[in-house]
Amino acid sequence: MNESSPYNMLKDKIRLLAKERDAVILAHNYQEGPIQEVADFIGDSLLLSQKAAATEASVILFCGVHFMAETASILSPQKKVIIPDLAAGCSLADMVIERDARQWKERHPDGAVVAYVNTSAVVKAAADYCCTSSNAVKVVQAIPEEKEVLFVPDFYLGTWVKRKTGRRNLHVWKGYCAAHTAITPEGIDRLREQHPDAEFLMHPECGCMTKSMDLADAILSTEGMVKYAKESSAGEFIIATENGMLYKLQKENPGKKFYPASENATCQYMQMNTLEKAFRSLLELKYEVKVPPHIAELARIPIERMMEISANGNGNGNGNGKKKLHSAAPIVYNRSQC
Ligand code: 13P
Repeated sequence: MNESSPYNMLKDKIRLLAKERDAVILAHNYQEGPIQEVADFIGDSLLLSQKAAATEASVILFCGVHFMAETASILSPQKKVIIPDLAAGCSLADMVIERDARQWKERHPDGAVVAYVNTSAVVKAAADYCCTSSNAVKVVQAIPEEKEVLFVPDFYLGTWVKRKTGRRNLHVWKGYCAAHTAITPEGIDRLREQHPDAEFLMHPECGCMTKSMDLADAILSTEGMVKYAKESSAGEFIIATENGMLYKLQKENPGKKFYPASENATCQYMQMNTLEKAFRSLLELKYEVKVPPHIAELARIPIERMMEISANGNGNGNGNGKKKLHSAAPIVYNRSQC
């Protein structure tokens, strides 16, 4: 691309505008290449949450999906959090609602609800712990063994965590990510035959998880894949996750080859964000994602527990902590309000 092409000029404008707006640009690993090129930080859900919590900038432009921006707003309530496209939701997050978590807690008053970060703020507000794919095992291990656990909403991640932790009393919700279900065991077998020397890296949300997990060289979060590919001596990799991931893997490992586990593993929501929309978002400081304080206050507790466990290996460890569950009235908030 020519240095002075309109495309490069737009990137320069975004960087300038970000400075003027005192904005930090966070981009998930699935975002398109041009967005990654203007971002201050690119990473997985955990890394981006940490960056959102630590930033001193007054605006966070979150290039990812809605629940990620909500998490940033929960962790940095005094900041303005904006996303390029308000329609960039998450089909997996929509598979569990607050009432589901609360009803389970009513039936299992001593149990703990673990909400994957791919959940709405209201679901997090009803949960005891949060987790991401990079720390889900550690979070569940930090909960006393005798406690029943409800893991929402991803069935495949939950099943993997159950297997890794050996927990019999872990109930798994039956949600799934549409993009990851495009990855099938048959597709994996075919690729492994075509590329016998390639290492097979799998995200725990994969629909083929239950059948193909024993074949994986590693089961990792998106950032875990980046680290693994860099450190491995292998020259080829089969990548089982959303295909936006291949951009960063390829960029950071120019001499290595990456094969998508399925050409169809594309998240329509993640790919709604574009460089043009990111520019407009900064220019007009829209679309703001703001979690109402009464929800943010409750949702912050499981997220902070997760961060503590991630950093130290233990949260408060009892699944009740200082958090009051079962408020008489359900929490009222929906995405269109922001
Ligand atoms: P990571 O936390 O591994 O980046 O995964 C996020 C996600 O939404 C996967 O679909």
